Amino acid sequence: MPPETTQQTKKMPEKGLPKNVISEQLEVKLQRDFTYSSGKILCSMCTNPHSFAKQIYRKYLEKNLGDPSLFPASAELEQETVSMLGSLLSNPKASGNIVSGGTEANILALWAARNLAKKEHGEVVVPVSAHHSFAKAADLLNLKLIKVKLNSRFQMDAKAAEKAVTSKTVAIVGVAGSTGLGVVDPISELSEIASANNVYLHVDAAFGGFVLPFLKELGCEPLDFDFRLPSVCSITIDPHKMGLAPVPAGGILFRDAAMREAISVKVPYLSGEVKESTLLGTRSGASAVAVWALMMHMGRAGYASVVDRCLKLTWKLVEEIQKIDGVDIVTEPTLNVVGIKSDRIDIRLIFQELKKRAWAVSLFPDYLRIVIMPHTKPLHIKRLLEDLQRILEQLS
Ligand SMILES: Cc1ncc(COP(=O)(O)O)c(C=O)c1O
Repeated sequence: MPPETTQQTKKMPEKGLPKNVISEQLEVKLQRDFTYSSGKILCSMCTNPHSFAKQIYRKYLEKNLGDPSLFPASAELEQETVSMLGSLLSNPKASGNIVSGGTEANILALWAARNLAKKEHGEVVVPVSAHHSFAKAADLLNLKLIKVKLNSRFQMDAKAAEKAVTSKTVAIVGVAGSTGLGVVDPISELSEIASANNVYLHVDAAFGGFVLPFLKELGCEPLDFDFRLPSVCSITIDPHKMGLAPVPAGGILFRDAAMREAISVKVPYLSGEVKESTLLGTRSGASAVAVWALMMHMGRAGYASVVDRCLKLTWKLVEEIQKIDGVDIVTEPTLNVVGIKSDRIDIRLIFQELKKRAWAVSLFPDYLRIVIMPHTKPLHIKRLLEDLQRILEQLS
């Protein structure tokens, strides 16, 4: 059960209440939730969706991609969306779906890898920094995770990954924008290892997928992580993170249709020949249509400018943290994620104090994580730094 919730019991009223009464109740009941506009959310990889995407999402709420025979036009738009995402990742012919999020996308990738490999007691080589969705996938798919250590830059250690590959390996997973520190694993080295061992390579770019493609045009060092690398078989890229789309909108992209076919299931009862390759049956069509509309509206230039703003603010935060006595950054950020550590004060105490001041940051075992998302403004970071200074004085 999530923290700070208690088991609630409630009965549906016998006779319905007026809409305005319910709306008023909701206003009160939902007050405890954080809002993106407050600037206090610094722990989330999601953000306030773009207003145009919200408008489109609301308009097309009835669309159900679980039944493409009824919504063939929405299904076609989903495939165009996948192709646009594929273009961003150097493969417009990629095949895939707009799914419920990075978790589902990662599960689908390992499902396909397992089915293609046809091995008993399959193993998946992942960095210790991999998102916990891989543990869920392994459990569901009866696979064993082989966890590989990180190097001094918090990336998956490629040599250790190579050693971890055995005849049982069904997939190697590299992360392009890790959950903790936004680190990008050495995907090109992993691609070579995968090719030498004829093993499936999945890249989890749930977060980095909407950031990394823009680094070059923003004057940063570009990083190889996508389908340009020959052994990359699938990529997770989430529009509901840096893509500014409403939740739920994850993306799973396979290099080609044959790979996706490995998890395709015939649906016996719908009108027409329907196959699905998602975990969900009935699923939102509004999500895919909203991502399509938003990508058309933003264009590459729009997303590049969002990334530019987030990165500049990230660097500003790093610069200011480095001026403060008692705290430091964990590693130079590649993306808009900053880890903050302290060798003097228990990081959990700093976390507690920030929480008292209504800041939502993430607590990892050795550091605090701050994600600079599009909803984060310079003023919010200024206030956070002022509070951090006060807290450090108080705890010293
Ligand atoms: C790298 C990475 N992969 C996958 C996920 C899971 O995404 P979701 O929460 O959309 O299922 C996350 C979530 O933060 C993530 O950081």
